[in-house]
Amino acid sequence: MPKLKRIGILTGGGDAPGLNAVIRAVVKSGVNHGIEVVGIEDSFDGLLEPNRSRVLTAKDVTGILRRGGTILGTINRGDPFAYPVETSEGKQDYSLRVVDMFHRMGMDALVVIGGDGTLAIAHKFAKMGIPLVGVPKTIDNDIVGTTNTFGFDTAVSFATDAIDRLHTTAEAHRRIMVVEVMGRYAGWIALYAGLGGGADVILIPEIPYDITKVAQQIRDRDAWGAFFSIVVVAEGARPLGGKTSLIREASRGRAERLGGAGHTIAAALEGLTGKESRTVVLGHLQRGGSPTSFDRVLATRFGGKAVEMLLQGQFDQMVAFHPPEISSVPIESIVGKQRTVPPDFDVVQTARAIGVSFGD
Ligand code: F6P
Repeated sequence: MPKLKRIGILTGGGDAPGLNAVIRAVVKSGVNHGIEVVGIEDSFDGLLEPNRSRVLTAKDVTGILRRGGTILGTINRGDPFAYPVETSEGKQDYSLRVVDMFHRMGMDALVVIGGDGTLAIAHKFAKMGIPLVGVPKTIDNDIVGTTNTFGFDTAVSFATDAIDRLHTTAEAHRRIMVVEVMGRYAGWIALYAGLGGGADVILIPEIPYDITKVAQQIRDRDAWGAFFSIVVVAEGARPLGGKTSLIREASRGRAERLGGAGHTIAAALEGLTGKESRTVVLGHLQRGGSPTSFDRVLATRFGGKAVEMLLQGQFDQMVAFHPPEISSVPIESIVGKQRTVPPDFDVVQTARAIGVSFGD
């Protein structure tokens, strides 16, 4: 195994609390193994030019464990392989330029921290000869091959706290409060925050809802004396036979943007029940702020494992959490897949058992 002297690290896709904790762990562990770590800015774009990266020392990462965001910057857009790019050396094929710069900058390997999109791109670069290891991140927790991604626990904690606060005002005004949380295609945040916050209705993309059944749940609560209700809605929730609510369709190089599910549901419930309804969209607040201790520990374990895998030459693999172990899976095995909530999952069954409605 050739000795690693210099490795790069980058963050791609939407940010998630814990990114800096992974960077810190990779730098500290790398330095302790005599490896120089180069921080690459703005995902793979930072490999387009030699001046979009910097060596990270232990001093550079001191104090970032608890910081949200990413000190390296990130971008969240479509497939960079699809288009040529303008560089200081003229128009070039994106992927060839990235591979060329990686070698020109004297790096031996790369740590890529990202969601399914970034990891799919990483896999393509691995096939083009960049030795790399992937680290899964997303608050949505929808990456296959790992039980948890870091960022999810922080998002759930924040959303649970928000639901707690909304309970008191909902009760005071005898209103329906609809809380829209993130989760494009997977309802993990809605399910866990809904259960943790004591929601009466949880609507997730995996279980299409019938709005009349949601309204019935609210009427039933009224009938036994609970004159308020909390409805937690994943942004990707959709009615039976209907579509996901979009603000913007997907276009060249841009993913579709979801939004509006909560408002649509609140308006429909007001019409059906006659009760005042309000909507709160938690949006990017779920991605901001300090990671929870669970996410800090998971992110640190992921970073340490990533360096260990690079040292062992385990390339084109993703670190994974299979409690209680941190292990690894081939990146190829996770590309193009989504880890969604199984409708018969025990957490869904428990929620149903205590009377939570999924609108089905
Ligand atoms: O993938 C995580 C996520 O938080 C989704 O739940 C959400 O739809 C998306 O990112 C929004 O990303 P952005 O605002 O960065 O485009």
